[in-house]
Amino acid sequence: MSTNPILAPHRSIRLFRADPLPEGTIQRLVAEAQRAPTDATGQMYSFVRVLDRARRRRIAELSGDQQHVLDAAEFLVTCADVHRLVRVLELHGRVPGEYPATGLHFAVIDATLATQRLIDAAEAIGLGTVCIGGILNGVEELIELLALPRGVLPLFGLCLGWPGEAPVARPRVALTSVLHADTYHELTPAAAAADVTAMAPITRSSNWPAVLGRYFAAGGTMEEREPALRRALERQGFAWSRE
Ligand SMILES: Cc1cc2nc3c(=O)[nH]c(=O)nc-3n(C[C@H](O)[C@H](O)[C@H](O)COP(=O)(O)O)c2cc1C
Repeated sequence: MSTNPILAPHRSIRLFRADPLPEGTIQRLVAEAQRAPTDATGQMYSFVRVLDRARRRRIAELSGDQQHVLDAAEFLVTCADVHRLVRVLELHGRVPGEYPATGLHFAVIDATLATQRLIDAAEAIGLGTVCIGGILNGVEELIELLALPRGVLPLFGLCLGWPGEAPVARPRVALTSVLHADTYHELTPAAAAADVTAMAPITRSSNWPAVLGRYFAAGGTMEEREPALRRALERQGFAWSRE
């Protein structure tokens, strides 16, 4: 089904020109991000702007030696953050509650909505961006590197800079695969096959299930990341027991 686009198409950019961003651009973009909706007024996110070159180099290494992490004019780390509001409560004589799952839920939503608005604003002024989930490969060291207190969890990085490439917009699954009417409809084999065909150009191998498998199948990178992320969740105060 073809649709009538409303926004300019988003594309992740992985090749950046060396030029810096004009003074004040990051502050303008973060101010836009702050206009995102926020659950319960909490604003449960923080951005860490990585200015120090050595720190950026280490983050690029931890992320699997991604060159664009080094080349982008700016690099932010989006964090879920319940620490700041707990501090407001404590400074105002209130005892913070115990809600690690809800805190994580709220903070991931707030952080993601704010970052998407920042991305939209960056693209609107001609900048390119790419999110960097690769930081999770070294999440425990990253927490140290950025001195994140308990209650703050790094979610993903964001490269920002002037685009040095103009890639075609990458494919997505069918609209009917993501839009449900009243109740959830199961993906049929035919619809799954159509999605796999549609997504083929996103991979060099034209084999999207193989790519998904490398990430999400048994023995894939998600399973590899799981133990360190669980430890990080525990350490940062976002873990809970089953009972
Ligand atoms: C949370 C998140 C993490 C991502 N991590 C990486 C990454 O580590 N490296 C990278 O090159 N792209 C990364 N991406 C970009 C995706 O690969 C990209 O959005 C996807 O292939 C679709 O392409 P498009 O953004 O150009 O439409 C990430 C995207 C998201 C949302």
